Amino acid sequence: MGEITFFFLLFTLFLSHFVALSLAKRQGDVLGNFYKAKQKKYSSIDKRYFKAALENVELDKVILPQEGLKEKDWIKKLPGQPPVKFQQYGGYVTVNESAGRALYYYFTEAENSKSLPLLLWLNGGPGCSSIAYGAMEELGPFRVNSDGKTLHRNHYAWNLAANVLFLESPAGVGFSYTNTSSDLRSPGDETTANDNVVFLLNWLERFPEYKNRDFYISGESYAGHYVPQLAHAILHHNKLANMTLINLKGIIIGNAVINDWTDTLGNWEYFASHALISDENFLDIKKYCFSDYNYSKSKCDRVVELANNNTDNLDIYNIYFPLCHDGNLTKYPKTPSPLQFDPCSDNYVHAYLNRRDVQNALHANVTNIEYAWESCSDPLFYNWKGSPVTIIPLLKESLANGVRVWIFSGDTDGRVPVTSTKRSIQAMNLTVDKPWRSWLHGGEVGGYVETYKGGLTFATVRGAGHEVPSYQPARALSLISHFLSGTLPPGYY
Ligand SMILES: *[C@@H]1O[C@H](CO)[C@@H](O)[C@H](O)[C@H]1NC(C)=O
Ligand SMILES: *[C@@H]1O[C@H](CO)[C@@H](O)[C@H](O)[C@H]1NC(C)=O
Ligand SMILES: *[C@@H]1O[C@H](CO)[C@@H](O)[C@H](O)[C@H]1NC(C)=O
Ligand SMILES: *[C@@H]1O[C@H](CO)[C@@H](O)[C@H](O)[C@H]1NC(C)=O
Ligand SMILES: *[C@@H]1O[C@H](CO)[C@@H](O)[C@H](O)[C@H]1NC(C)=O
Ligand SMILES: *[C@@H]1O[C@H](CO)[C@@H](O)[C@H](O)[C@H]1NC(C)=O
Ligand SMILES: *[C@@H]1O[C@H](CO)[C@@H](O)[C@H](O)[C@H]1NC(C)=O
Ligand SMILES: *[C@@H]1O[C@H](CO)[C@@H](O)[C@H](O)[C@H]1NC(C)=O
Repeated sequence: MGEITFFFLLFTLFLSHFVALSLAKRQGDVLGNFYKAKQKKYSSIDKRYFKAALENVELDKVILPQEGLKEKDWIKKLPGQPPVKFQQYGGYVTVNESAGRALYYYFTEAENSKSLPLLLWLNGGPGCSSIAYGAMEELGPFRVNSDGKTLHRNHYAWNLAANVLFLESPAGVGFSYTNTSSDLRSPGDETTANDNVVFLLNWLERFPEYKNRDFYISGESYAGHYVPQLAHAILHHNKLANMTLINLKGIIIGNAVINDWTDTLGNWEYFASHALISDENFLDIKKYCFSDYNYSKSKCDRVVELANNNTDNLDIYNIYFPLCHDGNLTKYPKTPSPLQFDPCSDNYVHAYLNRRDVQNALHANVTNIEYAWESCSDPLFYNWKGSPVTIIPLLKESLANGVRVWIFSGDTDGRVPVTSTKRSIQAMNLTVDKPWRSWLHGGEVGGYVETYKGGLTFATVRGAGHEVPSYQPARALSLISHFLSGTLPPGYY
């Protein structure tokens, strides 16, 4: 199969959140433009297997003094915030002094018991913000009201199960920045993992009470790359230092980019099996885009265009969900409903995080970054340099090192759908341990779960789109609680 065409298909995976961001425009237009603009650039992408590049870094040079910074990062109260009992912190950690590169984090301590594990959350993109999505629309303690200036509680926040750390990564995403503009022209998986591990080592100096705490990494979408890559970097540094610098216990990725070939094929399979495209269109795509013998660039382009035409006017991140039809802010907040996600949330979050009073309260944008806060960064996305075709070897490495690995999938997502994830797990050649069965939450099927010999657990979340905790907050909280405690959710076993 032609390489260019393969990337053409792959682009659809990278679009995570870009389409949602541009709901005011027609999704098809946005998609089409992305395809055209990126085809050439992406052909220069480095697809080789991922290796930690920090082999010889001297930790005492990258770990900087952190005294007094935790206290400075304490967030008294966010504008428009309802009262809460837990503490929150936000601020910058310098990850590269000479380049002037600093990553922004937002940390919510566990609501009831501070002795719970430490959980890092990463969004994907590449180039999308963990504050925009993770913290403010998915699993954080607050959601932004339709007035763009006040907040309401998310009663299914993951800080009921862990101390949750949200990180904007790499530099150039959200509030994270660099003083060396060339950094924005050469981002990639490897530099991201390197900066993230330096961030963590410094953050643990700033919050030393979490140094030996059980540590877990979670994320969704393109963070399917970031999470196992960060795990790889941590294992590498622990080994090099001959001590547990970071007490990594497990990783969990949702609707995750894992293995390009199966991810993309599973995409079209999902469209056909959910009646978004015809079976004939799917067979044509398999034939003209995926087969060695019948591959044809022009025919592939045409059948993919047909499929895209048929999926233009729906939210591909949650195929049964309404689009945002009026994203204007309202003078008075609409009555929020935690179990009914507002499809226009992106607009409210964008307004809220661009407010100066909010940025001041978060200790964000202290250097007056010259561009506005965006939920996803276009320059990073277009300039992305390194992205291996598969992260399966890294998932296997985590498993081999006793790191718990869970993969979950919201089953109404059409972007990295459950069919893709199933095919990607099949490509790992694992042996089933406990076969497929339903798991329960609140007396209903919460999803399905299957475990594999070697330690991998796969779980679906019924009725959830790409951002699982946005659409099924209660089921997502149950899932993460079971992951952290190392138990399977209750069900029909
Ligand atoms: C800091 O970043 C620059 C790129 O901006 C890179 O060349 C350099 O190696 C980095 N330093 C360390 C210690 O990682
Ligand atoms: C970036 O530059 C600004 C302005 O000179 C400075 O205040 C800031 O500390 C620099 N950031 C880092 C991480 O060095
Ligand atoms: C690593 O640490 C262990 C125990 O802390 C020690 O026995 C061993 O010699 C160390 N290995 C190296 C290569 O330093
Ligand atoms: C490819 O073409 C050959 C010869 O026309 C045909 O036998 C085969 O079934 C085709 N393969 C696919 C996947 O359509
Ligand atoms: C897709 O839609 C465009 C715009 O309506 C149309 O011009 C094009 O022919 C369609 N493509 C296919 C393959 O149906
Ligand atoms: C949203 O606001 C814009 C600009 O103020 C206005 O033109 C538009 O009519 C509004 N949309 C709706 C549905 O009220
Ligand atoms: C940072 O602040 C400047 C000036 O106060 C503002 O123009 C810019 O939009 C902000 N950028 C971000 C990323 O918050
Ligand atoms: C799985 O098995 C197939 C067929 O034996 C092989 O080609 C592939 O490399 C294996 N994949 C992994 C990740 O071990």
